[in-house]
Amino acid sequence: MENSKRTCTCGQLTAADAGKTVILNGWVHRTRELGGLTFILLRDRYGITQVVVGDKAADDVKKIAAQLKSEYCIAVKGVVAARNEKDINKEMSTGAIEVEAQEIEVFTTAQTLPFQIDEVRQKDGTVVLPNEDLRLKYRYLDLRRAPMQNHIILRSKVTFAVREYLTKLGFLEIETPTFIKSTPEGARDYLVPSRVHPGKFYSLPQSPQLYKQLLMVSGFDKYFQIARCYRDEDARGDRQPEFTQIDMEMSFTDRDEVLTVTEGMLGHVFKETLGYELPVHFDRISWDDAFDLYGSDKPDLRFDMKMQDAAFMADLADFNAFKAGAANASKTIERHKRSGLKALVVKNVADKFSRKNIEALEAVAKTYKAKGLAWMKIDAAGKFEGGISKFYAGKEDEICSKLNAQKNDLLLFVSDEKWQVACVALGAVRKQLGKDLNLYNPADEFHFAWIIDFPYFAWNEEENHWETEHHMFTLPQKKYWDTLESDPGSVKGDLYDLVMNGYEIASGSMRINDPALQERIFEIVGYSRERADKAFGFLVNAFKFGAPPHGGIAPGLDRLVMLMCHEDSIKEVIAFPKNTLAQSPMDDCPSYVDDAQLKDLHIVCTEREGE
Ligand code: AMO
Repeated sequence: MENSKRTCTCGQLTAADAGKTVILNGWVHRTRELGGLTFILLRDRYGITQVVVGDKAADDVKKIAAQLKSEYCIAVKGVVAARNEKDINKEMSTGAIEVEAQEIEVFTTAQTLPFQIDEVRQKDGTVVLPNEDLRLKYRYLDLRRAPMQNHIILRSKVTFAVREYLTKLGFLEIETPTFIKSTPEGARDYLVPSRVHPGKFYSLPQSPQLYKQLLMVSGFDKYFQIARCYRDEDARGDRQPEFTQIDMEMSFTDRDEVLTVTEGMLGHVFKETLGYELPVHFDRISWDDAFDLYGSDKPDLRFDMKMQDAAFMADLADFNAFKAGAANASKTIERHKRSGLKALVVKNVADKFSRKNIEALEAVAKTYKAKGLAWMKIDAAGKFEGGISKFYAGKEDEICSKLNAQKNDLLLFVSDEKWQVACVALGAVRKQLGKDLNLYNPADEFHFAWIIDFPYFAWNEEENHWETEHHMFTLPQKKYWDTLESDPGSVKGDLYDLVMNGYEIASGSMRINDPALQERIFEIVGYSRERADKAFGFLVNAFKFGAPPHGGIAPGLDRLVMLMCHEDSIKEVIAFPKNTLAQSPMDDCPSYVDDAQLKDLHIVCTEREGE
């Protein structure tokens, strides 16, 4: 072929193009011989076009066509022909045409593939995926698969829509360094040794937090960045050692403005990329209510089924397990003024739930530190049955009316002297039931909500000291400023999380801009002046030069796109992710380096894996 450069893509041609001579470039998706003809499905990222090598084709073209194998990269020159009505393939965007090949050029051949690019489905319709390490070893092939192409394309569109929206609002995209001073923010840092300064290390940022605050001091009052972040923590479905945040910060602002900008940005992203209308504003739930009603600070709100307080039941019977939960005994309960006896009414399932089903739910509750899962059913006559029913016989009317329960409902209870333990354990049962019973509202595909009014401090039981719930630069709510030291447990922070379908997808806060207040926080969490100075002195110093009030937020881009794609691992939306052991099987990373390199970096390894 004299010039084999494509004149159109494989996803573009329609019946309107019939008669045109075109050149297509792409990969051989599949070939098929039928009645002396060869059909080639030619694929690129835009779609698939059927090429036919017919009777009239020259012999050398027929010969090349007969030798084509899957994933050969080729060029085809030919004429677009409309298909007969009965041959139109409605599932392909190009299904109304085929291209009659006149010339074929093989750019490159392909070896036998480690797995099929085309989707493999089981009889029940579920897609069979190759083993994960194989997918990651041949990631460049895995990325040829249609679902992966769609994810990566969507991710690119989301990033564009973010930039478009924020830039229009006057935000500036500013890069911050990826070699920074090590200032652990929660997880372990990844370190980079300095060759020039023996024994010194840069660290990779866990987030641009301190730099974005410094940019506020510099007067860049609306900042954003599509920022790479690095955290040395155990990988799980929604976590990777390197990931991306849509990092934002604003000056002369308040919480409501940050939330509104974020809502507007997400509304724009969903509309532009999925054509999906989000509500203009998302519900706001206090942290206390989120735990009390759903047992989590990242509740899945695609279904309702709220937990209820059942403290009243402790007085109705002599059932000791319930007395402790209702007693408001512990420090935690006093702090939140809520009881540790929680109930869940599961509607209309009593006849379907066996003892075994309930035991499976109890196992879930126990993994979250519950001592057990008490239960009873309401039978067809409205009487309690099974489980703890003998304690409450005759009390049906009172209990059912308070808990709003009816015939054939299943009642589940967790009682614990710690309010939060009871909430979390029964909340985990709620989440499991949502999945098992598919309680999700189909009209509520993406459910966002703000969690606000977080406790500022959390008590570290192992190390016996207060630590901050978010980072230490978060502003405590003003009404608690006088009691920070005397009653840390009741202080609320000016911080907020955004949750979506049971995941935390963003976190942010109003920040401290007063060096004196910042130092009080360091002191309460047990950071000596020396340690605080060493780690964060530069930030506190900057605040001494006229720091504006400021605040911000950082939605996780990977998690957001993962949920938009209905996936449950962020690996599915990252082009080259690490496996659960933080390795990349494709390029064998991390890897040993030469002794000479280590010597340059003044590093001696005391241990090597496998030795
Ligand atoms: P935070 O640590 O809560 O806040 O992170 C913000 C958001 O980043 C995402 N995220 C992750 N995504 C993938 N893998 C990880 N390991 C990972 N860790 C976090 C989540 C999370 O909600 N500087 C503050 C933000 C601020 O205050 O403005 C911060 O980093 O979606």
